[in-house]
Parts: sequence; C-alpha cells; structure tokens
Amino acid sequence: QVHVASDVDVAQALRMDTYLGGAQPTAIPVGLYTSGGLEAPVYLDADFLLGPEAAHLNISGVSGLATKTSAVEFLLGSIFQHFPPHKGRVAAVCFNVKGPDLCFLDQPGALEDEDRRRYERLGVRAQPFEGVRYYAPFKADGVNLNTLRTHPDLVGDVEPLVWGLREVLDYAEVLLNRDDIDAKADAFIDFLSDRVVDKEFDDGFGGTHRVVTFADLERLFRSIFDGLELGGGRGDTWRTHHIATIRKVRNRLSNISTRCKGLVTDDGPSNDLPWGRFEDRAVYVVDVANVDPLGQDLVFARVVSKLREHLERRDLGVDAVVVFVDELNKYAPGDGPETYVKKMLLDISERGRYLGLVLFGAEQFRSQVHRRVVGNAGTIVFGRMDSDELATPGYQVLSPATKIKLATLPIGELMLRHPHFTQPIFVRFPRPAVLRGRDGVERFPPAADLPFEDAVVRQLVKLDRRVRPNLVKDVIADRREEDVRRALAHTRQTRPQDAFAHF
Ligand SMILES: Nc1ncnc2c1ncn2[C@@H]1O[C@H](COP(=O)(O)OP(=O)(O)OP(=O)(O)O)[C@@H](O)[C@H]1O
Ligand SMILES: [Mg+2]
Repeated sequence: QVHVASDVDVAQALRMDTYLGGAQPTAIPVGLYTSGGLEAPVYLDADFLLGPEAAHLNISGVSGLATKTSAVEFLLGSIFQHFPPHKGRVAAVCFNVKGPDLCFLDQPGALEDEDRRRYERLGVRAQPFEGVRYYAPFKADGVNLNTLRTHPDLVGDVEPLVWGLREVLDYAEVLLNRDDIDAKADAFIDFLSDRVVDKEFDDGFGGTHRVVTFADLERLFRSIFDGLELGGGRGDTWRTHHIATIRKVRNRLSNISTRCKGLVTDDGPSNDLPWGRFEDRAVYVVDVANVDPLGQDLVFARVVSKLREHLERRDLGVDAVVVFVDELNKYAPGDGPETYVKKMLLDISERGRYLGLVLFGAEQFRSQVHRRVVGNAGTIVFGRMDSDELATPGYQVLSPATKIKLATLPIGELMLRHPHFTQPIFVRFPRPAVLRGRDGVERFPPAADLPFEDAVVRQLVKLDRRVRPNLVKDVIADRREEDVRRALAHTRQTRPQDAFAHF
C-alpha cells in the first residue's frame, strides 16, 4: 500500500478522480506513469473512449518499435475487464489485415516478470481473450480456409465467411464507387436487388427467372442481351435501363465473383457473423489478410454497415462494439478517391459514438490518414515516431521537447492524449498477454492445403464428429465439386441429424 498516496496525487493532477471514484466509475487502465521514483496507474474514461461523450482511438508510430498492434490488444483486454457494468455489454470486431497478426488472440503469450508486475499494478489480469471467434473466407477451391490459423489444433474454431449474390448486391455500391460514381448503375443494382433477386421474375421476352445465385443472374443477363438483339432496332434499353449500364453492372459483378472466389460463392447458402447474437466480451476476428483488395473493401463495408444497422435497432446482442482497423492508411487514406469504405469510416468517426460503434485505428503515418477520421478520435496515442513525420504540419502543436521525446521513445512506452488530460501523458504498458502472430505461426505452423476430398472430410467432421472419413470419400467420389460444396454449405446451415442428408 506504499503507492496509495502517490496514486491519489497523480489521479488528481491528471483530473482522473472524477471518473475513478463515485457510484459508477468509468476508468479503464491504460498504462503506468513513471517519474523519478513514482509509478502510478493512468486511466482513460470509458465515456470518452467508447462514447457517448467522445469516442474512438487512433494510434500511430513507426513499424516494429511503436507497438501499435500490441497496445490495442492490451487495451482491449483492459476494456473487457473494466468496462463498467452500467454501460452494458461490449464486444470487438478486429479485421486481421496483416499476416498472422491477430490469429492467436486466444493463446497465451510469453510475458516477463516486469510485465506481470505491471499487470498487477494496473489491476488487469494477464490472460488471453476467452471468447474469440475467427472468420475467414475460403480459398478459390471453396473448401480450404484462407487464413494462417490452419494448424489442425486450431482450425476447428475458424468459421468460413461465405457470401452469396444477395449479400454482395446489398453492398454493390462498394464495387462501383472505387473508380467512378454512376447513378445509372446504382439504379440498376437497386432494381435487381428490389425486384429481381429471390422473386419470380418475367424478363419481358417470354422467360421467367428466379434469381438466387450469380449463375442465375448470368442466365437472366443472357436472356436480356439475346432478347434485345432479336428485338431488332429499338433494342438498347430494357426496363428503362440502358444496355451499356446493364453490361457494366454485369462486368462488375462477375469481376467480384472471380476475384473473390471463396468469399463470394454460387455454391449454396451464405455463412456470416452472428448478427443479433453477439456475445458480451467476445472478439470477432475477421481475417481478410489474404483477400483481394476489392473483396477486403466489400468485407469492411458489409460488416461495418451491419454493425451500424443492428446497433441502431439495438438488437446486435451487445451495447458497444470496438472495431479495430489496423493499417488504417490503406482504408481511409488522406488522398485518392472517395471510396465507399472511406465514407463509411468517416461516418463511424462522426456519428458512431451515439450508437456505441467505436473505431480503433492504427497506422504508421498519421499524416497519410484522412483528416476527419483521425480528427474525430477522442483518444490519440503515439508510440515511437518517425522524425520526418514529426516535421509535417500536423504536429505543429507539439513542443520541440515533446517531439524529441517521441522520436526516441523506448519500446513499450506511449504518449496519450485524452479529453480529460490538459497535456500529453507518457505511460508504459505491459506486453499483451496473447501469442504474437509470428510466434503463433511457429508454434502452430499453418497446415498445407488439403486435397479437395480431405478438406471436405475435415469440414464435415467439424460439423458432425460421428462422420467417418472414408464414408465421406465414397459418397463424394463421383460428384461434381460444386455440388459437394453446395451440399456442405446446406449442411452447415441446417445441421441435419444425418450428416449426409444433403449429399
Ligand atoms: N509493452 C511492451 N513492452 C515491450 N515490448 C513490447 C511491448 N509491446 C510489444 N512489444 C514488442 O514490440 C514489437 C512490435 O510490436 P507491434 O507488432 O505491436 O508493433 P507495430 O507498431 O504494430 O508494428 P507494425 O507497424 O510493423 O505492425 C513486438 O515484437 C513486441 O514483442
Ligand atoms: Mg502492427
């Protein structure tokens, strides 16, 4: 108890006493402040970190030394342990955008005695995350998962992320806004989405369609083009949509289904995050590290929009969600076109705090991220900074002494700006208690891709432990691969008593 007096002094000096005490404290431990012989915990205010007063966190600093990803992992753990009960339930959605970075959040990592001491001092238990759900698309073969968490001991809890035509069409704007803004194409996509998909539809040339998959849609496109050709002269519009617009939309859609095979599929029902059933203190890792940029954009757009929708209706299952986007400069760059993803990240930054939708972003160079995205972050964190970066106009507010300190900051130390603090505060945080990505792939080397049959066996055994591998191979021996994938998808969706019911 030797600390007590100095802890209180520091709390008062940093004006943390208002949210540390009282009937409903909102303090989240973030690191230890040290000065001379003194060492005291520093807390962020949950109302200003996760809303509604302010929200969002941005962290920047040089690769390897700034400990950006590590700091976010530690802070998420601290949030899960200290999120005040009166604020309800909280979860995190983390996009894994780089190699194995976030693939082992449920595994314990190596800590030193100093780290343990710091955990204790901060009142945070040093433990990996308990409820982690991993989602990854398939590779192009539609049966092997596109992630580095494929070691046989771990792959069992990776859920496939599979979307069909319906899921893609709802966010098709993503595909268009990348390089052009086209109201006509938008209108045609809306028409497909509202009037065609999943409905009995008459093409006007004597054919009836029920479009559920990309393949069905392709059939409809063909009958439209054939119909217009046979119709002779007047044939350049169909249902008020110009044939050029129809061709364009068709190209974009077929583009995504070929570039993102394995995420976007024709083979049966989709498999998605558990909308409406999010669990308290769970982390949902969505692994897009190895997905085509177009597919990454689609995943961001759809996942974040769904989170927003459900939080607005208050039926997500939790009251607040932290969305962690690493390498934010790629997704919300300061220059370049106004993509759908950028607009969406701006929208969270500006309105998310009322909804409990909170963005934690990390990047090497803050100057490369859209100004309003970083500008709306209530809490700003710096690790070791690059001195050229510090010379850019965004850092004019920092004193020369602070800049020198930032450029030489030791590993594991951070500078914090938070609405309650009148000046930047430097803290030390302990290593995150989770297995680092690169240690993870050493301890759990990713499995080689399985041949189609074996991959199907593994998927089916995962769904029903009683299934005998040889029997699966016999059953699928002379089936077409797409039929097998479709049967597998239906099995995943309906979990029948008899695992072979759909085969
Ligand atoms: N609190 C800490 N104390 C000491 N070392 C740490 C601490 N946190 C992380 N490290 C070490 O620092 C290294 C870099 O951390 P991390 O990967 O989080 O950096 P980063 O800023 O995300 O880098 P990049 O830009 O390359 O993604 C890690 O190897 C980790 O072991
Ligand atoms: Mg990182």
